[in-house]
Amino acid sequence: MLSLNIDLPDTSYPIIIEKDIIKKIGKKILPYAQRKKIVIVTDKNVDALYGDALIQNIEKSGFQVHLIRLYPGENSKSLGVLECVYKELLNFDMTKSDLLIAFGGGVIGDLTGFAAATFLRGIPFIQIPTSLIAQVDSSIGGKTAVNLKEGKNLVGSFYHPRAVFIDPQLLHSLKPRFFSDGMAEVIKYGCIKDSELFSKLETLNQKQLISHMDEIILRCCEIKKRIVEEDEKDESTRMLLNFGHTFGHAVEKIYHYKKYTHGEAVAVGMYHITGKSEEMGYTQKGTAERIKNLLIKFNLPFNLPDIDEASLSEALSPDKKSRGNDIHLVLLKAIGESFIHLADKKNLKEFIIKEGVKV
Ligand SMILES: NC(=O)c1ccc[n+]([C@@H]2O[C@H](COP(=O)([O-])OP(=O)(O)OC[C@H]3O[C@@H](n4cnc5c(N)ncnc54)[C@H](O)[C@@H]3O)[C@@H](O)[C@H]2O)c1
Ligand SMILES: [Zn+2]
Repeated sequence: MLSLNIDLPDTSYPIIIEKDIIKKIGKKILPYAQRKKIVIVTDKNVDALYGDALIQNIEKSGFQVHLIRLYPGENSKSLGVLECVYKELLNFDMTKSDLLIAFGGGVIGDLTGFAAATFLRGIPFIQIPTSLIAQVDSSIGGKTAVNLKEGKNLVGSFYHPRAVFIDPQLLHSLKPRFFSDGMAEVIKYGCIKDSELFSKLETLNQKQLISHMDEIILRCCEIKKRIVEEDEKDESTRMLLNFGHTFGHAVEKIYHYKKYTHGEAVAVGMYHITGKSEEMGYTQKGTAERIKNLLIKFNLPFNLPDIDEASLSEALSPDKKSRGNDIHLVLLKAIGESFIHLADKKNLKEFIIKEGVKV
């Protein structure tokens, strides 16, 4: 078992990483449940694979369980689905002392977290993340949200779980594309804070990677912990987690969130911005090439698709991460060393123009 604690001024909670932890989850959640009612929110894919075993195990510890099963995918992160969740919580007579569990990928985690934050002005919840993105990123740090048709994550709050239980065994059933998707965020952590992790990813073969997955997840959680503890509300250091995301979000948006998964778009964004910052002399030579090789290794794209500059510029502008006229771009000095570069929106063009980007 591996573990760490997130320590913030108003809350503190453990992250436990353990193979097959879901087989003993009933006992594990006992310290966090004041009463006997538990609602689990999951999606149909995760339910089909693990739902029955999870419910049985939790019931064995004496809980009364209700399961809310949603359609998989981003469309479930909506106000409409949120309202259905509230109604089910009411029908099950959930009180402020009962416990909600998010059992799924980032979609389920974000939606359930926001439901927990807002239902009866806040009820306790636990994260059991099942996708790689959720295990290394979305289940930690307290960001919860739903989407509006105008954009992703536009309604949300900072609300932390009471505990996070990560079972790396669950990753075996992930579709390869979703695994690669999560690997983009793992590579990102290496890029911004951990050259050793990056080198490890370069050297491990597929089999070794799987057997080291718990340590890799721990390294990612540790990096996120340090960043979140320093800047819980995303005002300074936490922006480093957006490495590759400014261009990534633009690519996702231009293709209407259909052609590229989030991780694929971030992969493209990381390589593009590093190629540019290398040309401008901010970044050690050879860094973009190393990123590109690692992206290829994990079946991730690296080339910015053929988007005209005007559309790219347009997609970049109304980014939530921008304040006033400036865009906070995350750049690398070298692998493992990142910094925030303030680019005036007018000067953003030098990061967009494609001539000279190595392919
Ligand atoms: N809150 C945050 O800080 C934060 C950070 C990063 C991403 N996010 C959010 O996370 C979401 C993306 O997360 P995601 O990629 O996990 O999406 P997801 O929840 O849609 O999961 C991806 C797919 O994998 C399936 N799946 C999940 N676990 C599985 C398993 N163990 N075996 C088989 N299939 C499994 C799901 O059913 C789904 O089809 C986005 O909405 C994004 O905005 C939030
Ligand atoms: Zn991301």
